[in-house]
Amino acid sequence: MSSPPWWQRGAVYQVYPRSFADGDGDGVGDLRGLRAHLDHLADLGVTAVWLSPVFTSPMVDAGYDVADFCDVDPVFGTLEDLDGLIADCHARGIRVVLDWVPNHSSDQHPWFLASRSSRDDPRRDWYVWRDSAPDGGPPNDWRSEFAAAGPAWSYDEHTGQWYLHSYTPQQPDLNWDNPEVEAAMHDVVRFWLDRGVDGLRIDALQRLGKDPLLRSNAGSDRRHDQDWEPVAHERLRGIRRVVDEYQDRMIVGEVYLLDQRRVVDYLSGGDQLHMAHNFVFLHLPWDAAAFRHVIAEFEALAEPDAWPAWFLGNHDHSRIATRYDDGGSGQARARAVALMLTALRGTPFLYQGDELGLPDAEIPPGRVVDVDGRDPGRAPLPWRPPSLAGPGAGFTTGEPWLPLVREAEQLCVESQAADPCSTLSLVRRLGELRAESAALRSGDQHLLDAGPDVLAWLRTGPGERLLAAVNFATEPRPLIVPGIPGARHAVLVSTDPERTGTAVQDGTGPRARFVLQPSEAVLLELVPHARPT
Ligand code: NOJ
Repeated sequence: MSSPPWWQRGAVYQVYPRSFADGDGDGVGDLRGLRAHLDHLADLGVTAVWLSPVFTSPMVDAGYDVADFCDVDPVFGTLEDLDGLIADCHARGIRVVLDWVPNHSSDQHPWFLASRSSRDDPRRDWYVWRDSAPDGGPPNDWRSEFAAAGPAWSYDEHTGQWYLHSYTPQQPDLNWDNPEVEAAMHDVVRFWLDRGVDGLRIDALQRLGKDPLLRSNAGSDRRHDQDWEPVAHERLRGIRRVVDEYQDRMIVGEVYLLDQRRVVDYLSGGDQLHMAHNFVFLHLPWDAAAFRHVIAEFEALAEPDAWPAWFLGNHDHSRIATRYDDGGSGQARARAVALMLTALRGTPFLYQGDELGLPDAEIPPGRVVDVDGRDPGRAPLPWRPPSLAGPGAGFTTGEPWLPLVREAEQLCVESQAADPCSTLSLVRRLGELRAESAALRSGDQHLLDAGPDVLAWLRTGPGERLLAAVNFATEPRPLIVPGIPGARHAVLVSTDPERTGTAVQDGTGPRARFVLQPSEAVLLELVPHARPT
């Protein structure tokens, strides 16, 4: 087996910089705080860190409204701080992936200020401007992604036309039909890759292709405001050509399409994405059959070399421990998810705090920041017990920009690091196992029929046969794997803190004696039967 590229080896850890660690006491996380906590990432054994945007921004959409694509916002630090972070990460063998937002800019970006200044401005056509519809309303029926924003068009009194914004009105869509825009955004990619960044997460990739005729969605069997073929893929191929000017870089796309057929199209041909965030997987209910179906469907649809990116959490969604909580099983399920993501063929993506099993925070009405209700999953990380470090829990010495989770005392990094049975200790162990096992990193995968409520699969590599299993039920379930006669096994890791012992045992075969506990996930090493002498 040849050595896989860096982005296939270990987990990618998403840092949401506002909420990771505050280095200057203003209550907002920053690059200085992040640099001071890189040991945490190293202890998790992650291969790469993906940073949500740290660029100059009025922060209407928490930095996804970029006013300068090539500079750092003062709330996070300076460009030199970012250079320093990249160097610090590289010194620890951690790659750096930045968030690149090609679909739109802030309305405060100099390009948009020029564009809206007059219909004759040379930058007018850098954004999408149209006249009113005959009824005096917006040019078509496209809606903003955010329900609160309503139509995807805002009227500009000064120039008497509407501009398109797929998100908030403060995030005008760039006009990728204009080759000058495409070239300028390619230069942004080069700016960061020249600076030593290892990869980019492409924000809202599906939005780069829109119907050039801007037809309404109503009455059509497909959407005209995204995923428009072939332009979306042509634009992606253009981006990939720029990335391929550099050695060993990676692009992972946010492809927010709830149909795996459409998602795998962005991975095909070897000249588009290296990986795609798959939101079909993120939206699954806690159900073994549903997970099995989506994993099998991805394998069936994608080209054999296509590499999955498995993730169940990011800064736009309720946290795993809350979303999958069902009468108190949230923590156990968050642990099971950590094992599942580590053991599936593909790259696991961890959102900061997943390694602690953090739930959503409660946000009182007076503290709401986000336009789209996403604050609960964005609460700052608790580093130290508030009883020792004060209410900022080691995240900040000031007033945190969002309230922390109520459970900070028990769930903070320091408390969990001291407990060998904690979720943090489990996630560290999973990182070690992946680093030790070629089968986990790049082995073959084979889904098993393991009985109701159990998802099980084999990972194999030279000299290694591993069996992963997750019990989705809230009662114990036997691990029945008919294809594996009388399997002898050693437990490499279990998510159940009560399970002890790793000795070789018999019995995951057709008449199982191995019983999975409620919400337990395990990784077993299948041991060959001793040959009779
Ligand atoms: C996806 C990002 O993850 C989300 O946070 C943001 O609001 C939109 N894209 C718009 O940039």
